[in-house]
Amino acid sequence: MKKAIIVGASSGIGFEVARQLLAEGWKIGIAARREELLMQLKSEAPERVEVMTIDITKADAEERLMALIERLGGMHLYVHVSGIGKQNRTLEPGIELQTVETNAVGFTRMIGAAYRYFANLPSLTGEGSVEGHIAAISSIAGTKGLGPAPSYSATKALQATYLEALEQQAHQRGLSIKITDIRPGFVDTALLNDSFPYPMLMRPEKVAREIVRSINKKRSVRIIDWRYRILTAFWRLIPRCLWRMIKI
Ligand SMILES: NC(=O)c1ccc[n+]([C@@H]2O[C@H](COP(=O)([O-])OP(=O)(O)OC[C@H]3O[C@@H](n4cnc5c(N)ncnc54)[C@H](OP(=O)(O)O)[C@@H]3O)[C@@H](O)[C@H]2O)c1
Repeated sequence: MKKAIIVGASSGIGFEVARQLLAEGWKIGIAARREELLMQLKSEAPERVEVMTIDITKADAEERLMALIERLGGMHLYVHVSGIGKQNRTLEPGIELQTVETNAVGFTRMIGAAYRYFANLPSLTGEGSVEGHIAAISSIAGTKGLGPAPSYSATKALQATYLEALEQQAHQRGLSIKITDIRPGFVDTALLNDSFPYPMLMRPEKVAREIVRSINKKRSVRIIDWRYRILTAFWRLIPRCLWRMIKI
């Protein structure tokens, strides 16, 4: 049975991705800080779900991930969903630093732990590592620096660049580790719960379906959905001297 770990599975996109992997027959390990929500998810298929509370900003997070992998009996797929994001037009330092702590430091800690786990697995043939797959939810917000959310857009750019770097490193080291960078547009979850009228909002269930499809197809990068693929293609063409004038 295929085994996946989803970190950030207690709500929103991660919760829906976990449910869809369950529906596809995976055995899953789920993690986040809010244990009661994880336990609710476990109750949907108790024999195929293992739970671990993990705060990715804490130093023991790698150790706890390894304990969850052991409890699950191994891991073929690591899905990193945990993240925070707020608009911060007044540049409150607490918001900026906590976002960096979670989306940059915590992300690097957990993705690194999963990568090293796969890299160190002995293969059945004795050559290289066995196949592993890391998927992470970054965002279209990493395409450009966004004035209303500086730390959010900057940390999402870090995530995308980090995943690209790991893809190259894995290839050059001959490691069979597939990397998938998922970049959704606006999704109707608690993360956007700030009464701002976000356009082109997508349902988390629909986004999760496209995420799982992209994982199954082992895509390198997937922007969700098609409207955001067009929008971000245009964003990339806008020179800095014009970008600074655009109201977001
Ligand atoms: N909503 C959007 O429009 C959108 C668009 C593009 C990308 N994304 C990305 O999608 C991911 C999921 O966000 P969402 O929209 O589904 O929002 P959400 O419902 O708020 O989910 C965030 C998840 O991250 C977990 N998390 C936050 N801080 C954590 C920490 N320190 N340690 C462990 N887990 C932590 C939360 O669990 P606990 O609180 O229980 O720890 C929760 O499971 C984020 O990375 C976000 O940047 C969202």
